[in-house]
Amino acid sequence: MSLLELSNVHVRYGAITALKGLDLRVEQGELVALVGSNGAGKTTTLSAIAGVHKASTGSIVFDGKPIHAKRSADIARRGIALVPEDRGIFPSLTIEENLRLGSYLVRDKKTVADELDRVFDRFPILKERAGQGAGTLSGGEQQQLAIARALLSQPRLLMLDEPSLGLSPTLVDRMFEIIQQLHEEGVTILLVEQNVTRALALANRAYVLTTGSLTASGTPQEIMDSIDITAAYLGGVQVAGTEG
Ligand SMILES: Nc1ncnc2c1ncn2[C@@H]1O[C@H](COP(=O)(O)OP(=O)(O)O)[C@@H](O)[C@H]1O
Ligand SMILES: [Mg+2]
Repeated sequence: MSLLELSNVHVRYGAITALKGLDLRVEQGELVALVGSNGAGKTTTLSAIAGVHKASTGSIVFDGKPIHAKRSADIARRGIALVPEDRGIFPSLTIEENLRLGSYLVRDKKTVADELDRVFDRFPILKERAGQGAGTLSGGEQQQLAIARALLSQPRLLMLDEPSLGLSPTLVDRMFEIIQQLHEEGVTILLVEQNVTRALALANRAYVLTTGSLTASGTPQEIMDSIDITAAYLGGVQVAGTEG
């Protein structure tokens, strides 16, 4: 049984159908990449899984239980954490306060303290500046804070929406290192990226989404073999080394 399984998921925004029958699965321990150009429906997919904007038809099953009709808070409680594209940082709260918000689902104080220590070891900049306003962090640091906060909920599935977006090349490298490290430590990750080359380099499997439908899926090698990577599909998609 897959940890997460989407079957025939449709999502609508009024007259627009942003997802047209998506099938996607994530196994325990996998790093799965969901790639595709701007407007393909990547964020919509994560929103549907997190219950932020519901699927209109189809099923989403997490750990054997349907979640497509559940409230987003309930889905979070089941262990799905979303780091949104805008990072969702509260700039006027301190870094530590932002982090503690991530641990609201964890009741045991000792567990929270241990987890906070672990996150501070992983992201030393957050420890150094724990008492400062989160708004004083750079874009890359805010992305680290957003991921750290998600980790504090001890998620069974971590979903990252374009974590490299807007970062300088050095910080993009650092971000992909962090993602790889988390995966190696056993965190199950669904990674949305426009940076196809970098995402495929890390992923166990990947899905290519084009205007609401899958155009390819499989191992990174299968995807590279099955699509003309320089032509049609990469029209609006970033490759490694480009900024945007
Ligand atoms: N809140 C919304 N209201 C109306 N249309 C939306 C909304 N969010 C996304 N869309 C549309 O749904 C499609 C998929 O968007 P999105 O999931 O954000 O794509 P991606 O994340 O791949 O760039 C696009 O056509 C977009 O314009
Ligand atoms: Mg998006």
